[in-house]
Amino acid sequence: MKLHSTIRKTEVERAVLVGVQRDKEASWIERESMKELAALVKTAGGEVIGEVLQRLPNPTAPYYIGKGKVEEVRERCIQGRAHSVIFDDELTPAQGRNLEKALSRKVIDRTQLILDIFAQRARTREGKLQIELAQLNYLLPRLTRMWTHLSRQSGGIGTRGPGETQLEVDRRRVQERITRLKEDLEEVRRVRNVQRSGRLRRNVPMVALVGYTNAGKSTLFNWLAQANVYAADQLFATLDPTTRLVQLPNKHKLLLSDTVGFIRKLPHKLIESFKATLEEVVNADLLLHVVDLSHSHFEEQIASVKEVLCEIGAHDKTQILVFNKTDCVMTAGLIERVLMEYPNSVAVSAIKQEGLNALTNCLAQHLVKWRQHGYWLIPQSEGTRIAEIYDHGEVVRVEYIDASVKIEGYVPWYLHGKLKQWSLKINELNENNS
Ligand code: GTP
Repeated sequence: MKLHSTIRKTEVERAVLVGVQRDKEASWIERESMKELAALVKTAGGEVIGEVLQRLPNPTAPYYIGKGKVEEVRERCIQGRAHSVIFDDELTPAQGRNLEKALSRKVIDRTQLILDIFAQRARTREGKLQIELAQLNYLLPRLTRMWTHLSRQSGGIGTRGPGETQLEVDRRRVQERITRLKEDLEEVRRVRNVQRSGRLRRNVPMVALVGYTNAGKSTLFNWLAQANVYAADQLFATLDPTTRLVQLPNKHKLLLSDTVGFIRKLPHKLIESFKATLEEVVNADLLLHVVDLSHSHFEEQIASVKEVLCEIGAHDKTQILVFNKTDCVMTAGLIERVLMEYPNSVAVSAIKQEGLNALTNCLAQHLVKWRQHGYWLIPQSEGTRIAEIYDHGEVVRVEYIDASVKIEGYVPWYLHGKLKQWSLKINELNENNS
């Protein structure tokens, strides 16, 4: 099959978007979904030159849309010299094949588009492995689509044999590669778990940033961690989890992870492939759920994130809702309303660096159980230990008694253990006071 859509290196890929609306009026979800699809195309480096929405209660088996609508899409493509047609839902292998034939253009669906963006963005070895696995899983049932044109080119009867044989070989190769990728990812996961148990041994709580794509997770992460993680006004700027040790003003340390952005209609296969990344979320002690409060449908985005959290089994984790982008909120009283309505929530502007105190105080309140209160009477000669209390804990009171220091404070569990020999019981406290 000849596709009239070859893109020159200097050209921007022009795309026509196609969606289906179930009822007479497009619901806001359908409209939002198309808007998001357009944003995804931009993120992938393409340009949207047209949009076709068909009212259809149920997609059709051969083309997803009706045959007449296919003709309309074809016209649009010719007028706008489109390279590709992008569908807002996942197409079956047969639909993809039929549409490419009818439109003589590359036809891709939302899943492929998301995979493409993920592939462009993946930076670490783990991210790349996950993407390849997701792509191959997507490709496997569609391999026939790529082979049909070959068998057709070489003629009909009698030529199907070699084509099919080649297809079988390819299927086996893809399957082998999938098995290999799964093993490699398993190894990455194993190493991660070792690192995690190391972290746990150090008793540092793990906090993961989650949120709808573009909510501002990376910006918040940078601000909190003072790290330089890639943040851009593109969907899915973050693909690989990045973890930093963060210290709160009360010296409380935590491990903060930035994770992949969630999105509506996140294909199930993708969630499967990204399990390693999402494990940071599953294993976190606390989630910071970042919400773009300036988005007109922020509440639905919260619901979408909760759905994904449910799917990966992280829905019952303690969450702090971080309402971000307060600098862009135009609705009077909205910030006050959400803070009242949602328990455990704070409002910030990560970009303007406003609201840090509220956020760190909220974090400190939640992480209090990682600290132990105590009184210690420590010889002044044990300077290292005393310094450790100052560095890793919160000192409430200090008193110098002869050659010792009496300290009341909160320290992490691991340090509490190390200070045991100098720990004061309540009755000893009174003795010391007298
Ligand atoms: P994904 O990687 O897609 O999941 O995105 P993310 O949630 O990590 O968002 P990111 O930090 O990349 O920010 C997305 C865009 O929002 C960027 O252009 C940021 O500059 C912008 N942004 C982040 N925080 C704020 C904020 O408080 N106010 C405003 N006005 N823009 C912000």
